[in-house]
Amino acid sequence: MPTMSSRVELRPLTLSDQDEFCMLVRASAELHGPWMQLPSTADEFQAWMRRFDDAGNLGFLIRVRETGEAAGMVNINSVIRGRYQGASLGYAAFAPSAGRGYMTDGLTATLRHAFTDLRLHRLEASIQPANKASLALVRRLGFRYEGVSPACLYIDGEWRDHERWSITAPSPWTPDPSLPDV
Ligand SMILES: CC(C)(COP(=O)(O)OP(=O)(O)OC[C@H]1O[C@@H](n2cnc3c(N)ncnc32)[C@H](O)[C@@H]1OP(=O)(O)O)[C@@H](O)C(=O)NCCC(=O)NCCS
Repeated sequence: MPTMSSRVELRPLTLSDQDEFCMLVRASAELHGPWMQLPSTADEFQAWMRRFDDAGNLGFLIRVRETGEAAGMVNINSVIRGRYQGASLGYAAFAPSAGRGYMTDGLTATLRHAFTDLRLHRLEASIQPANKASLALVRRLGFRYEGVSPACLYIDGEWRDHERWSITAPSPWTPDPSLPDV
């Protein structure tokens, strides 16, 4: 079920998005630069899509409602239930529509979907300290800074330090049935 917000909608990523996705990733090489590596060929895309085969990772395109164009992508990765009820976000704008607020709208819709429909309690983002656009985005969304994890993620051929940012569900919040009672 698509999640609506004012200007954009969240659409689950499917195999039929392959050509559009790869074309937009190739067009965004400069924007994604050292921050994000996404599949840009059919083979890479199909291999990457296998991560969504179970409920542990969810992938979405952020589409502009008026035009249908894909403004960016967002993944809700590594969903852990039990006493954690959390997940990590991965996201990127696509260059043709970057810088117009669509990612802010799309991540706002993602938080709503995660906290309300998926009943997650916590979302994390790990961001390289020099990635100013991504830091501005999570600040705008109300994430809290938690500190730096040295050599946290393997990006662009190196283990990179990352700032840890998180946000927890607003109250009132309805827990997922998998949350233990006590
Ligand atoms: C981080 C990233 C997703 C941000 O995307 P973006 O397209 O710049 O995000 P938005 O458009 O929502 O916000 C950017 C700007 O648009 C502005 N904006 C322009 N028009 C707007 C409008 N109509 N409504 C709201 N905001 C608008 C916002 O104010 C914001 O400006 P500011 O940051 O200078 O204050 C993008 O830079 C990116 O893809 N980077 C590479 C991948 C990456 O780093 N991913 C994250 C790894 S941790």
